[in-house]
Amino acid sequence: MSARSYLYVPGDRPDVLAKAAGRGADALIVDLEDAVPADGKDAARKVVREYVTAAPVAGSGPVELWVRVNGDGVAPEDIVAVASPSVTGFCLAKAENAEEVRAAADACAAAERALGLGDGAFLLAPLLESAAAVLDARTIAGASPRVSRLQVGEADLRAELGVTLGADERELLHVRSSVVLASVAAGIEPPVGPVSTNFRDLDALRESTLAISRLGYRGRACIHPAQLAVVNEVFTPSEEEVEAARRLVARFEEVTAAGSGVFTDESGRMVDLAVVRQARRVLASAR
Ligand code: COA
Ligand code: MG
Repeated sequence: MSARSYLYVPGDRPDVLAKAAGRGADALIVDLEDAVPADGKDAARKVVREYVTAAPVAGSGPVELWVRVNGDGVAPEDIVAVASPSVTGFCLAKAENAEEVRAAADACAAAERALGLGDGAFLLAPLLESAAAVLDARTIAGASPRVSRLQVGEADLRAELGVTLGADERELLHVRSSVVLASVAAGIEPPVGPVSTNFRDLDALRESTLAISRLGYRGRACIHPAQLAVVNEVFTPSEEEVEAARRLVARFEEVTAAGSGVFTDESGRMVDLAVVRQARRVLASAR
């Protein structure tokens, strides 16, 4: 089941990390990048290494564990320094091109050998934070079979583009949607939605999260525990939605068994295989 909420936790804060897994996030992104000051990187690697070493093996704990590693060619060193069987994958800050992703993939392979893990154990999630990276999204997505999803780093992107978000955030609609398109075209999971830095306005967070959910996103990054319940709720289909999807799929199976491909649902709308695929998607994300 894919994660709905990804909570960023600063990698230099053992006290905050200690309680992070119990805050309600489906996944944690332990951060070695922007949440850690430049002169604190070595200390943070040590903190993160201790944290991931003590954490349960990936797949067996309450949360999925990701580590965000630095860009600028540092990713391979970061990966080798903090790789552990508890880690599902690495978020690649400021990923600019396919070569950087392949260098990170090589570091994952080396770490897997050193830890005695199977080839391909570690996944990669490149963060697109520049105009060039967003335009190359499909190439970056296809750079390695380890790339399981993309993420857009909107703070840096907004600064580069000179974008200021209005209330409905339509200024980044094209970017958000094109990254969904690139992900699907590359055959990877939908991207993880951007953080909202205003963690006091949960109504705005809900609106914005509903909007990205309509665009095809299935999860979102968060910076504060207060955001998690809203994000989890938006990305969980309601009981009514699940029930309606179940009825639709059952009816479709009856109809196709009787030799037809199209029928009308309870409210008179046409249903064909495309509509049924969407219903199956709802069933797959039911909790
Ligand atoms: N992960 C885990 N726990 C967090 C958290 C986070 N991102 N943000 C806050 N908490 C915890 C606090 O430690 C505190 O715990 P306590 O009640 O046990 O003391 C509780 O949630 C309430 O926090 P609050 O006092 O409201 O916020 P704060 O002032 O401590 O922290 C931030 C505010 C913004 C500094 C903090 O949320 C943060 O560091 N966020 C992540 C930043 C980051 O990683 N940025 C890079 C990616 S964009
Ligand atoms: Mg950043």
